[in-house]
Amino acid sequence: MLRRSVGAIELRDVRRLFRATTGTLRRHTKEIVALDGLSLDVGEGELFGILGPNGAGKTTTIKVLTTLLIPTSGTATVMGLDVVRDAKEVRRKIGFVFGGERGLYYRLSGRDNLRYFAELYAVPPREIRSRVEELLDLVDLRPRGDERVEGYSRGMKQRLHLARTLLHRPRVLFLDEPTIGLDPIGARELRRIVRQLHEGGATIVLTTHYLFEADELCDRIAVIDKGRAVALGTPADLKSNVSDLSVVELEVFGIDAGTVERLRALDFVDSIVVEQRELRQVLRVQTRIAERAVAPLIAAVAAGQVGRVAVREATLEDAYVRLVGRVE
Ligand SMILES: Nc1ncnc2c1ncn2[C@@H]1O[C@H](COP(=O)(O)OP(=O)(O)OP(=O)(O)O)[C@@H](O)[C@H]1O
Ligand SMILES: [Mg+2]
Repeated sequence: MLRRSVGAIELRDVRRLFRATTGTLRRHTKEIVALDGLSLDVGEGELFGILGPNGAGKTTTIKVLTTLLIPTSGTATVMGLDVVRDAKEVRRKIGFVFGGERGLYYRLSGRDNLRYFAELYAVPPREIRSRVEELLDLVDLRPRGDERVEGYSRGMKQRLHLARTLLHRPRVLFLDEPTIGLDPIGARELRRIVRQLHEGGATIVLTTHYLFEADELCDRIAVIDKGRAVALGTPADLKSNVSDLSVVELEVFGIDAGTVERLRALDFVDSIVVEQRELRQVLRVQTRIAERAVAPLIAAVAAGQVGRVAVREATLEDAYVRLVGRVE
């Protein structure tokens, strides 16, 4: 097999269509374009983030790269191997974890799960023991390794999933929303492990809806929307798109849509995102004039309706809002 020396992952013009059936009596099929000519390159050893709103095509991208879905057109390679033609070899080189996935034996202990999967993945028998212990250590489950998985917290299960997919020492890892549903400490622990794997030289592709997570972990990020890449770069590159902006956060009480529209029309306002909290709203106003925007903004909302006000620098999330035009 001819192996070109390329980056770890190459997607070229990948399209993926789905047919969805609508209606119960009169059935229609509708074509959904999940990936619309997506091209991406990930270098060896890179920790690469894919961001994008719900339905953007992130999971579809990961499924194509992990050979679980065949692209409708276009090509994708992992370590120089074609994900369709060389699917079997690709699978030997990769590991993947989908957030919230099942697929562990709940009535077995964590340690026995790993032993079982090690046999299934043909880890040489004399290596199984040390490999399992090494991985239990990595994911910090050694002290709880003999307990049944049914008693594990969600974070522990997620870490066991990760350990399972590392059994055959994959060089490329795909993590689809690995921290979904984890509490802040569980998520932080998982990020620590991801960072450690990255330091060990693995190529990692991860999707997340947590912008700070992408900012903290990723070497580069692609933002995708409607199956296309809309931005690509380091977190700093993406943030530099908004380096001219500051964000004024205004806590307001009971203002109407008309007022928000009036604020949007002010010439120093770049964009406004309204976040609904219980009895109040928080307006996140992107502006080029920083502190100088505060007084005119307060004046434009009736003064009695304004609570706390803060001015801060734009974050990756603000860059994202500017790119995708909406918050999740
Ligand atoms: N099996 C399927 N059948 C029909 N449509 C599908 C199927 N899988 C995905 N889609 C559609 O493809 C598009 C992309 O979905 P995908 O799951 O890749 O999005 P995503 O970016 O992972 O979203 P999320 O952030 O919600 O996980 C969506 O419109 C989705 O409804
Ligand atoms: Mg998804």
